[in-house]
Amino acid sequence: MRKALVAGNWKMNGSLDANRELLSALSGAMQASDAVAVAVCPPAVYLRDALAQLESGAIAVGGQDCSDEKSGAFTGEIAADMLKEVGCEYVIVGHSERRARQHEDSAWVARKFIAAQAAGLVPILCVGEQLADREAGRTDAVVAEQLDAVLDAAGVAAFDRAVVAYEPVWAIGTGLTASPEQAAEVHAFIRARVSARDQGVAEGLRILYGGSVKADNAAGLFALPDIDGGLIGGASLDAASFIGIVNAAVAAQARG
Ligand code: PGA
Repeated sequence: MRKALVAGNWKMNGSLDANRELLSALSGAMQASDAVAVAVCPPAVYLRDALAQLESGAIAVGGQDCSDEKSGAFTGEIAADMLKEVGCEYVIVGHSERRARQHEDSAWVARKFIAAQAAGLVPILCVGEQLADREAGRTDAVVAEQLDAVLDAAGVAAFDRAVVAYEPVWAIGTGLTASPEQAAEVHAFIRARVSARDQGVAEGLRILYGGSVKADNAAGLFALPDIDGGLIGGASLDAASFIGIVNAAVAAQARG
């Protein structure tokens, strides 16, 4: 059985004080669970403080992005090796906000994915369509392009050390969530696409859902067989909401 992952993507939010408070509430409520892995992805400047506070290891830490380059003249970028060195386990690559604002295309995201794995990090590869794509019936085509770019560049075997997050762009931070049926359809599509290359890798691959996941809609999403946890934005900044989402994942896992 796949071990679910619930990861909080804090985006550009937080402060030393707010983070300390949030993390102490989270670590008070969570023990390391065999059933569900939990991670938080704070802004890079806060990673070291978060890691120091989360020493017990029940909650893992990830970066929100990494460079595709190892080192050198890349002002403002952060190498995957640096994230690994300070103690990160995961790194998000290809988030739709970066694809839009930093114009990251799928080939670039694939290079980041490879750099992350080379450093020993587990990449959380984000894929997802815009509303216009969905309305034009292009959801599968868009997701396939984003996924295939990485499958082609990294090879399917690399996906046994990676996580995919399906995040419909129209559902991110909008309060609109994909219905369980809409999410299930795309998750099944992603797994089938990986399975076409390697069935064993596809069966072990964790595919998270992201996009306005809250404590009250998480159970419905996590109950679906191809949804293996969530990538949580807004609700990960509120301890009670995030804990509620983790508990929904634990309950879903217990039901099998
Ligand atoms: P949201 O963000 O939960 O605020 O919709 C999810 C994400 O962008 O990872």
